Amino acid sequence: MLQSKLPAINAATRLCAVFGSPIRHSASPAMHNAAFAELGLNWRYLAFEVDPNNLCAAIEGARAMNFAGINLTVPHKLLAVDMMDELDVSAQTWGAVNTIKFVTDYAGKVRAIGFNTDADSLVSSLRADLKLELHGAKVLLLGAGGAGRTAALKLAAENVAELFLVNRTQSKADEIAIEIKKQFPGVRIATTYPTAEVDLVLNATSLGLKAEDVSPLDTQKFSLLQARVAYDMIYRPAETAFLHAAKIASCKIANGIGMLVGQGGKAFEIWTGQTAPLAVMRQAVEETVYGSAKS
Ligand code: ATR
Repeated sequence: MLQSKLPAINAATRLCAVFGSPIRHSASPAMHNAAFAELGLNWRYLAFEVDPNNLCAAIEGARAMNFAGINLTVPHKLLAVDMMDELDVSAQTWGAVNTIKFVTDYAGKVRAIGFNTDADSLVSSLRADLKLELHGAKVLLLGAGGAGRTAALKLAAENVAELFLVNRTQSKADEIAIEIKKQFPGVRIATTYPTAEVDLVLNATSLGLKAEDVSPLDTQKFSLLQARVAYDMIYRPAETAFLHAAKIASCKIANGIGMLVGQGGKAFEIWTGQTAPLAVMRQAVEETVYGSAKS
């Protein structure tokens, strides 16, 4: 049992936590506590249900109580940007904070530094789980909400050749396309379905979380037979209807577990300065989410 390797809690125990609403199903405590145990660190990671109206007070409380760091999840990532003393370049680039590190400066003041580890974790998961090289790739991205926007900008920054961004609310896709044309003029962007084959179809919508959800993909407009690999940012359920259809169409598939573990691993390294034990973290997440480790 991993947890038994954790040093006993005492007055020197360092604390981290995730703030979100809802938070009850978060796999982050299991993931980070398994990592602390693996490295024999006297640290603990907790989860707190925090209403957006109390986010500022909760961050100030964590700062005052000498927490090492905080993760933020829905709906706090954008709200927290204005609550930081400093934004790392990752948080500046993506306009959202999912990781806070508390650092004591030379004058003894505790500063809150905001990071974003989400965007990098998408790319590392696509590489590790699907062996996908994004440079020069053709991508169909479904969704232009918070996750879709970050994914679109990150894919453009990775120099994909063509990006097809499709969203129920067309205006949101159009806004992102304008931003990409300005920032990444080398990327060909369209807000319609592709007419030829693509390397990757990526679901960044919330469709698939519930059993009754319709598919995020309009199969009248695009067939999964025209895609090489498919990725779903959703990891609960392990295989959404979208991923199932992609598998039947002979696509290589992966769900968002790799992203969850990747963003957690980067947060762990920011806080502790040590290399994250990613395999242990992944196993802990799979046990928590699916009831048993899958790999
Ligand atoms: P997140 O931060 O997880 O991205 P979000 O910003 O609310 O959450 O975005 C949810 C995404 O799922 C959006 O792309 C949304 O489409 P809209 O921009 O049109 O709202 C998409 N989505 C959610 N429910 C949907 C539905 N029933 N049909 C089509 N798209 C849906």
